[in-house]
Amino acid sequence: MHGQPIASSQNSGYPAGILVSRLKEIAGEFGHVAFASSLGAEDMVVADAIFTAELPIAVFTLDTGRLPRETLDLLERMRGRYSREVEIFRPGADEVAGYVSAHGANALYESVELRKKCCHIRKVEPLARALAGRDAWVTGLRRAQSVTRTDLPLREFDATHGLVKFNPLADWSEEEVWAYIRDREVPYNALHDRGYPSIGCDPCTRAIRPGEDVRAGRWWWESKDNKECGIHVSPLTKPIGEKTL
Ligand code: ADX
Ligand code: SF4
Repeated sequence: MHGQPIASSQNSGYPAGILVSRLKEIAGEFGHVAFASSLGAEDMVVADAIFTAELPIAVFTLDTGRLPRETLDLLERMRGRYSREVEIFRPGADEVAGYVSAHGANALYESVELRKKCCHIRKVEPLARALAGRDAWVTGLRRAQSVTRTDLPLREFDATHGLVKFNPLADWSEEEVWAYIRDREVPYNALHDRGYPSIGCDPCTRAIRPGEDVRAGRWWWESKDNKECGIHVSPLTKPIGEKTL
């Protein structure tokens, strides 16, 4: 519930107090901290914790220009719910136009290379702009989301951006995320109720069937060992410590 003391739900099936402590610690250690929100379920939990505890952490989203209508609707609903702003970063118009004229808007289905090129223009480059001038950044990544994320630390050094990167939900389960959302009536993407546990751009996200992996609907035509858009993959990224912030 909006306005409810956030630390009071320590024993309600999700570790909200620990999440707020982690975020407070990050904000205390670094000056300009930014949280990257895709507006997925995990990210709504982190944004709710930041906004409700009034933490000095900026929240931004990358609007790739190909987000589903339901994701854009959620951005509007957040404006009604919270008094804090969500900063929006968009891809360069010239880069998008160049890609579309050279390859076609949906060339992302043609090869992994063209898919990654689209992600680079619409996500990776805007992320670099979003992180410019920040001292640390925060994500909503969890270990259990993917085979590519099983070793995800709470704190790592992201050498691509030269920043410490925090994953304060690394050890949360999907059940804990949804317990938080339901208990606190946090707004969430309507697609989650229609078989979409993981939501990205419209052409690259589909509903999953019962029993399928939670990320089976992301870039479903590609191998599951490869399903990252490039914003979290850095050969130079190194964990700092094991399980602690
Ligand atoms: S992705 O790499 O496959 O697209 P995913 O959707 O699982 O990532 O999201 C993981 C984390 O990456 C999110 O919790 C968020 O921190 C960040 N992220 C992904 N997409 C965006 C976006 N469009 N804008 C801001 N942050 C994003
Ligand atoms: Fe392009 Fe798909 Fe990547 Fe979005 S997820 S940036 S549409 S390739």
